[in-house]
Amino acid sequence: MRQLIAGNWKMNGLGASLAELDVIANHVASHPPHADILICPPATLIARAVATAKECLAIGGQDCRAEISGAFTGDVSAEMLKDAGAAFVIVGHSERRQYHQETDATVAAKANAAHRAGLVAIVCIGETEAERNAGKALDVVARQIEGSVPQQAPISSIVIAYEPVWAIGTGRTPTSSEIAEMHAHLRKRLIARLGAHAKDVRLLYGGSVKPSNAREILALPEVGGALVGGASLKASDFQPIFEAAARNS
Ligand code: 13P
Repeated sequence: MRQLIAGNWKMNGLGASLAELDVIANHVASHPPHADILICPPATLIARAVATAKECLAIGGQDCRAEISGAFTGDVSAEMLKDAGAAFVIVGHSERRQYHQETDATVAAKANAAHRAGLVAIVCIGETEAERNAGKALDVVARQIEGSVPQQAPISSIVIAYEPVWAIGTGRTPTSSEIAEMHAHLRKRLIARLGAHAKDVRLLYGGSVKPSNAREILALPEVGGALVGGASLKASDFQPIFEAAARNS
């Protein structure tokens, strides 16, 4: 399976930032990588990002509401993202869970909405530092898989991103053996929930991925790509990350 290297710009980026996307798209066109490349800019930039990407890379949203339309001021539906040209949407990022009180049930509804609209949902899970220190990391993510991954969604519409909360934006990462242990565990839990064909669901690692650690992380078993925050904002940081993708396909 080809790896997926996804950039999450979070609440960063104005029109001028599309120049970075243009550099990335041109680089992908002239040096086709071994991985699929995705950028999730803020919603305001999605339509322009799709034009800039020139089909060299995919564009995604960072969140969606579960309903198709209605009186939900400020929210964006999966159908709207699709209409703007998005192919993916991140759901259940820990920042949404923390700042918008999103529960596993909300996240599952959003993942279903993504499928309904024809988008791939990147479902984010991950333990806090206190949960890891208490030896509960494996249990926490197992619960999040149960609650956030819809059982009826086809395998092709789901990607899982394991992002330990304590590794996001901190420069700290789990050790390679901790990542490998977690991803093996996630694979087992997904197969238990969705069936044997869940062997084909891409499991991304996210949290302080940067040019200096990408190669080691992307070479680990069961790591199907990366979800990159800060280091996706500049082409000069993001390019070496997707060039480090393992040759898997
Ligand atoms: P950083 O790569 O900045 O740690 O962010 C990770 C993340 O939250 C991606 O969704």
